[in-house]
Amino acid sequence: MSATLDTVLNHIDASLDAALDRLCGLLRIPSVSTDPAHASDVQACAEHAADLLRAAGLDATVHQTQGHPMVVATGGDPKGPHVLYYGHYDVQPADPVELWDTAPFEPTIVGEGDERRIVCRGAADDKGQLMMFVEALRAWHEVGGGTPLRVTVLLEGEEESGSPSLDPFLEAHRDALSPDVCVVSDTGMWDRQTPAITTMLRGMVYLDVTLHGPSHDLHSGMYGGAVVNPINELTRVLGGLHDENGRVTIDGFYDGVREPASAEQWRALEFDEAAFLGSAGLTTSTGEAGRSVLERIWSRPTLDLNGIFGGYTGEGAKTVIAAQASAKLSCRLVPGQDPEAIEASIKAHLEARTPEGCTWTIVGHGCNPAIEVSTDSPWLHAAVDALGTEFDNDTVLCGCGGSIPVVGSFQSILGAQSLLIGFGLDDDRVHSPNEKFDLMCFHRGIRSHAAVAEALAGVGAPTT
Ligand code: BES
Ligand code: ZN
Repeated sequence: MSATLDTVLNHIDASLDAALDRLCGLLRIPSVSTDPAHASDVQACAEHAADLLRAAGLDATVHQTQGHPMVVATGGDPKGPHVLYYGHYDVQPADPVELWDTAPFEPTIVGEGDERRIVCRGAADDKGQLMMFVEALRAWHEVGGGTPLRVTVLLEGEEESGSPSLDPFLEAHRDALSPDVCVVSDTGMWDRQTPAITTMLRGMVYLDVTLHGPSHDLHSGMYGGAVVNPINELTRVLGGLHDENGRVTIDGFYDGVREPASAEQWRALEFDEAAFLGSAGLTTSTGEAGRSVLERIWSRPTLDLNGIFGGYTGEGAKTVIAAQASAKLSCRLVPGQDPEAIEASIKAHLEARTPEGCTWTIVGHGCNPAIEVSTDSPWLHAAVDALGTEFDNDTVLCGCGGSIPVVGSFQSILGAQSLLIGFGLDDDRVHSPNEKFDLMCFHRGIRSHAAVAEALAGVGAPTT
């Protein structure tokens, strides 16, 4: 470790409280991208993030798009390798709000000592994570003579709502962005003491399906038993989407799926299944028969219902046959699967089972492939070395069940690989009430990003 990095790390330690205050300022803005009622909050959050980047010594601009703004900031050493840091400043809705122990957008510190954590929507996903690299860049700026990299920061405001503006934005700014490598801060650690770099992400297909029957809601005594009931029929069709072995019954669903090269290494990982299930309040895993928990979340494709609604859902009883019933359905995809083909097969599956007297409306909300990141790159080796200076345990190269579509866009549009370096924990409750981020993760994450920056600078700018 260089003397300069040592100075930068000491500065990070000494200014942790101020960094935490800055994170709290960002967390207080309810930047829920999917809800139009929060559009002005999302805009305000972009402006606030740009101010934080300026204070970190970068030149920041808020770019308007068809949807929510992109924040882009540049700086550092123009002679260093060009690293594009990515994070998202939008968050998921706080609902159901009544299940939060504290106000969802009022950051609250709970716990003692090493267990201290900040509870707030966005604490782990992704404001806490993006602020780690912003704070690392700030420390390099304040006491390290500037980051030894050519830095571009890209903060997105639509990640949680399917990133509709991202690809057009990357295409329009391809030349200016053109990084040597991207650093994406939106994933997790292996455990509290063990850093991880994620090398596989699942892809996704998302559909809204509605089954229409009678022209209007009907009295279930007058009509029940003599006419089609869309709720009965929708649940019957959806109930047939898995067989008794937990496999998806859509034609061609498993076409192209392969056993990942890293599966062998994963078996050697000491995965604490009980702790993982415990973080969900469970004791047993359910899924495709004959597969381990890690395979089920990292390397096997899935189909899940994310919402189902129709008919009367208020208090008490109402005897009605609803005119329609709906469900939100998503698939997590793995390498080898073609998202468009899967989407088409799901539609064909439903159409082929259309109940008599009914019609479907099917609306897609995104289709993106799974991602594999090369484990054999000088950037990845440098990052692993740097994490080794911060943690006693070796870095785990792991998969991830979630999706970060931008990583695919960086590959296909910018031709750049990503390093997925994140500091979340399994029990962070991302997308759930009482989301939290451990202060220990925040602190060590800032230190790690500072060390990784120096290590990436050591790889050097390509000579071509
Ligand atoms: N940060 C998550 C991805 C993630 C989830 C990483 C779990 C590590 C563990 C990301 O913000 C996210 O939630 N992505 C969405 C993408 C979707 C809306 C296309 C997801 O995975 O559901
Ligand atoms: Zn995220």
